Amino acid sequence: MSSFVWMKVLESTPERYDRGIRWLSRGRIDEVYEEIARRTAVPGRRVLDIGCGTGAVSLACARRGAQVLGIDIDAGMLEVARTKQVPPGGSVEWRELGVAELLDAFAENAFGAVVSCLAMSELSPDEQTYALSAARRLLEPGGVLVLADEVMPTGVGGLLHRAISFPLTAATYVMTQTTTRPVRDIAARVRAAGFVNIREERRWGGSFSIIEATKGTGA
Ligand SMILES: C[S@@+](CC[C@H](N)C(=O)[O-])C[C@H]1O[C@@H](n2cnc3c(N)ncnc32)[C@H](O)[C@@H]1O
Repeated sequence: MSSFVWMKVLESTPERYDRGIRWLSRGRIDEVYEEIARRTAVPGRRVLDIGCGTGAVSLACARRGAQVLGIDIDAGMLEVARTKQVPPGGSVEWRELGVAELLDAFAENAFGAVVSCLAMSELSPDEQTYALSAARRLLEPGGVLVLADEVMPTGVGGLLHRAISFPLTAATYVMTQTTTRPVRDIAARVRAAGFVNIREERRWGGSFSIIEATKGTGA
C-alpha cells in the first residue's frame, strides 16, 4: 500500500523530487520508469511524455533510442530535468507546456507513443478526460499509450488506502494548497477516450496501475 499524495510537497522543492519519490515509492519507482520505456520506446520513435517532471521517464525512453518530447507545466521541475545528461542514441526536448495546450502545440498523429507517469493524479477529472482525448489525437494510428499512476484499490484495500491518505492529504493541502487524487476508473476512462487493446496491471496492493492501450489503426 502506497500513498503518493505527498508528491505535491516534493514538487515544491524540485531538486529534492527524485530522492523523495524514491523514498515515497520505497525504491520501486525506477522499475516503473523502466517498464514504461520498455513498453513504448524503440529507436527513432517519437514519444511524448506528459507531466515529465524531472525527466526520469523521458530519459529512460531516450536510453532506448527514442526521440522524446517531455512537457511539464512546472518550470522548476524542467530546470532539474535540463541538468541531466541525455543518453547517447536518443534525444530529449524539454518544453514548458500545460496539458490544456497540447492540441494547439502539436499536429495530429505526431507521436508514435504517449506516456505519463504520476501526472494524471494531479489533474481534475475533466482535465484527465481532455488529456486522454488529446493523447489519442496526437498519436499516429496504431500508436501506444502507457499511463502509470496511483489508483484507488478495490474493496477493503480502498478503505485502508483512504484512511492512510486522509491525514497526508490534509497536511499536503495545508502546505501547498493543492493535492493529488488516485485516478478513478482509469481503464474505463482510457476506453471512453477511444483507445483499444487496453491492458491494466495493478501493483503495490492494487494502489498503482500501469495501463497500456493503442489507438486503433482505423482511427
Ligand atoms: C508527480 S510529478 C511526476 C513527474 C514524472 N512524470 C515522474 O514520474 O517522476 C507530476 C508532474 O505533473 C506535472 N503537471 C501537473 N499538472 C500538469 C498540467 N496541467 N500540465 C502539465 N504538467 C502537469 C507537475 O508539474 C509534475 O511535474
